[in-house]
Amino acid sequence: MDARQMKIKAAEAALSHVQDGMRLGIGTGSTAEEFVRLLAEKVAAGLKVEGVPTSERTARLCVELGVPLKSLDELPELDLTIDGADEVDHALRLVKGGGGALLREKIVAAASARMIVIADQSKVVETLGAFPLPIEINPFGQVATRIAIEKLASRSGLSGTLALRSSGDGAFMTDGGHLILDASFGRIPDAEALARELNTIPGVVEHGLFINLASLAIIAGPEGARVMQAV
Ligand code: A5P
Repeated sequence: MDARQMKIKAAEAALSHVQDGMRLGIGTGSTAEEFVRLLAEKVAAGLKVEGVPTSERTARLCVELGVPLKSLDELPELDLTIDGADEVDHALRLVKGGGGALLREKIVAAASARMIVIADQSKVVETLGAFPLPIEINPFGQVATRIAIEKLASRSGLSGTLALRSSGDGAFMTDGGHLILDASFGRIPDAEALARELNTIPGVVEHGLFINLASLAIIAGPEGARVMQAV
């Protein structure tokens, strides 16, 4: 089974949690897109759901495939969000934002009664941090913000580079018009503390540590999908 087939397996398993009438948060990334394709088939067959997309990219795919959408302002309380992740640990702490949609993803997940993460088994880690942590920052004062993050990292015993994410010939811009710094810390022993501290830096809009948001994770491997709950 290749990586795409595993993503499809995880997305299929997540679909069994979707019920008629649900208000759904719809994630971003290649795994979430497999979920959108499967969801669209169910919608075409008569399933009634309303989705709130976590990115313009996901919104375009939903429109193309006929998944009914609303804005989060129209549906501010959601039943379930299904989204991918860049890393998942055994407490269901996540690193997200590899696709650059972390801010809307976190807002949507926080507005949902439940969040189910779908991923292939390569995303499961003992300790978060091997995947560079995306930190979304305001373009205003970006140098000062970068210095503040570097100082925080050093106080926290973390080392590694901060790379401004690029796209084509310029800086990558999020849907909200912000920049992303990818922090290669390697290992984040205390994700809760780092998450709290990053939120104290004014130029940090949001970061990709998702803590206490995922209710369960559906992880697919060659033998099929398994459910992970927080331990
Ligand atoms: C998007 O910003 C991310 O949070 C994605 O959910 C994450 O990068 C997982 O993407 P893939 O499913 O493409 O690996």
